[in-house]
Parts: sequence; structure tokens; C-alpha cells
Amino acid sequence: MANIVTSFCCVVLAAVVVVYAQRRSQQGARIQYARIGNDVTMQCGSLDNDASVTWKVNGTDVKAQRREKGPQLTLMEVDMSSNGLYSCFQNQNPDGQRRDQITLRVGLPPKEPQVTCRSNTYPKGFYCSWHLQYPTYIPTEFDVDVQHNQKSLEVKRDEIHKNRCHVKFPELFSSFSYRVNVTAINALGRASTATSYEESSMVKPDPPEKVVARPIPNHVRRLEVTWSSPSTWPDIESFPLKYFLRYRPLIRDQWQHVELSDSTSHTITDAYVGKEYIIQLAAKDMEIGTWSDWSVAVHATPWTEEPKPMTTTEVNVLVETTPSSAPPSAKPRVGGAMGGCSALLCSSHVLLACILLSIM
Ligand SMILES: *[C@@H]1O[C@H](CO)[C@@H](O)[C@H](O)[C@H]1NC(C)=O
Ligand SMILES: *[C@@H]1O[C@H](CO)[C@@H](O)[C@H](O)[C@H]1NC(C)=O
Repeated sequence: MANIVTSFCCVVLAAVVVVYAQRRSQQGARIQYARIGNDVTMQCGSLDNDASVTWKVNGTDVKAQRREKGPQLTLMEVDMSSNGLYSCFQNQNPDGQRRDQITLRVGLPPKEPQVTCRSNTYPKGFYCSWHLQYPTYIPTEFDVDVQHNQKSLEVKRDEIHKNRCHVKFPELFSSFSYRVNVTAINALGRASTATSYEESSMVKPDPPEKVVARPIPNHVRRLEVTWSSPSTWPDIESFPLKYFLRYRPLIRDQWQHVELSDSTSHTITDAYVGKEYIIQLAAKDMEIGTWSDWSVAVHATPWTEEPKPMTTTEVNVLVETTPSSAPPSAKPRVGGAMGGCSALLCSSHVLLACILLSIM
């Protein structure tokens, strides 16, 4: 027993040592960046031009197309497969000592970032977010500058979303636009996007929350829908919202719409008897800005006199318990069929296991 424990400890210890050694050796390496498609030359330390060296990548021979000249290794037209830890060893050196170590990272300079700014917390402030349309494969930083009436405003980075920042409105109902300049920077280059935003056009609330749709007893064509204003909207009293409700039976593609001002409930009175409905809401400032995205879809069926016979509920239960996590979008997804299939598959496995057991 002791032996097993000891050897187990040794294995763990050895693994830790190996990992540590790898870390150490990579930490000592300097990083060299190269653009995809370019030739890149790596220099072994500060050795003289007549020094003779051997190069390794990731501890094995370099196989890529290359030119070697004294202490220099030139890789031709590098691509992502050229990435790696390159080490050079001086040949005449009696102990074959390593002279240098370079981590080669191949990538691209950034293109202009795509920027959008939006105020979901009007009149407090707005946020801007950005992303690159094409990957750079190497670390890329972003510099953000926001100007209003020729003054730079304080820009606060979001703590969760890496590519987002927050800005407070310095004044309300300003006729000056906000100039937002986002610059993407990495070791291979930089690119900026500068855009102007009007205060009023940036306003776009988050979708309404806690949307609930209920049947109304004894009313076969009615559904009662209630919701809350978006919790991010700071001052619903001074900056009231209006709402847009859309609903349709699952079996039809066409939505029906109702616009509602300043109310957080509505009763649908023209539902089809016994049909399951899908319901969503959007919000907008009464005066300015654009409509929010759609809220998460909720489902409801009007009250019916006769409860459905039990025999058909088996499948329905599976469908209904699948969470409707569809994001707010024009076409909410309806999931469920898969769940039924895998449950069947599962029970057939159980059956098989039972048969096998009974044979044994
Ligand atoms: C070196 O190793 C890294 C990962 O450990 C791998 O992505 C890369 O392709 C390797 N480089 C070469 C040239 O084999
Ligand atoms: C945006 O910012 C970058 C970096 O600070 C600067 O070089 C560039 O001139 C700015 N562009 C505009 C249009 O202001």
C-alpha cells in the first residue's frame, strides 16, 4: 500500500516538475509577432554573423520552408502552423547550450472595428460596444475616445463585457452629437472607427421583463398579459415607456400587434379557442429613440371547458418542460421535439439492460 502511495506521489511530483519546467522555459522566451503570409527572420540572441547555430521548434527539428544564415532563421510565408516556441543552440558550444528562445505568434493587424452606441439607461448615460469582423489571432487592445462639444468625456470600461464602455450624458437634450472613436491596436498595426451619434437616436430600452400570459377562467378567447418595465430603465415616472405587444397562435405565421402607451397589462380578446399562443413585448421611450428587442417569448392557451384527455399528455409534458430560452428576435424558436426522441432512446436502453439482466 505504502509503495502505491509513494509511487503515486512520485508521478504527481514528476508531472508538476515537468509543467513547471515548461512554464519556466516559456516565460524566458521573448515574443515575436509576424503577419500571416510574410517572411519572418528570427535572430539567435546577439551572436555574431559567423556563428553557427541549430534551430528547434517545440523541441523538434524545423521542417517549414526556411533559410538559415549564421545566427538567423528566416521562415518563408508564415501561417498559423508556424506558431511555436523556437530555440537556438550554438553548434561549437561544448555543452550545446541554448542561446535564445523566441515564441513566434502569427496573426494579422486589426481592421476597423464595428461600433454601436446605445442608451438603455436614458437619461443617465449610454454605452458603446465594438467588435472586429475578422480575427487577428494575436492580443488586440482597444482605445476609446468620446467627445461632445469638443470636450473628451470620461469613458468607463464595463466590468463584465470586455468590448464595452459606459459614458454619462454631460447634459440632456443636447444638440451636439457624440463623437466616438474606437481604435484597435495590436503588435502588427492599428485601425480606427469614428462615428457620430445624436442623443435622441441612441435611446433604445431593454425589453420588458417578467412577461406573464394567463388564461382567464370561463373566457375561451381571452388571454391576460402582464409585464414590468425594463429594470435598467432608471426613471419610468419622468421618462415613461410605451409598449408593443405581438401575439400569434403557434400554428400560424402571422403576428397580431397592439401598441399600448404607459400600461403594463393587456387582455387579448380575439384568441382562437383552444390554441396555444406565443406572446412577446417590446418597449420604447414615449418621445425618442427606437424600439427595444423583443422580450423572451411566453406561451399560453386560453381557458377551455374540458380538460384535455390524459392519454395525450405524455408527449406534451416533454415539450412543455423544455425551457423556452429563445433570445429576443423576430423569429422565436420553438424547441422540444428532440427531448422526446432522446427520452425514447433512453427508455429503449433501459429495456435492453433489463432484458440482458434477466438473461443473466
Ligand atoms: C508548436 O506547438 C503548438 C502548441 O503547443 C502548436 O500549436 C504549433 O503548431 C507547434 N508548432 C510547430 C511548428 O509544430
Ligand atoms: C481616432 O483615434 C486615433 C487614436 O487616438 C487617432 O489616431 C485618429 O486620428 C482618431 N480619428 C479621428 C477621426 O478622430
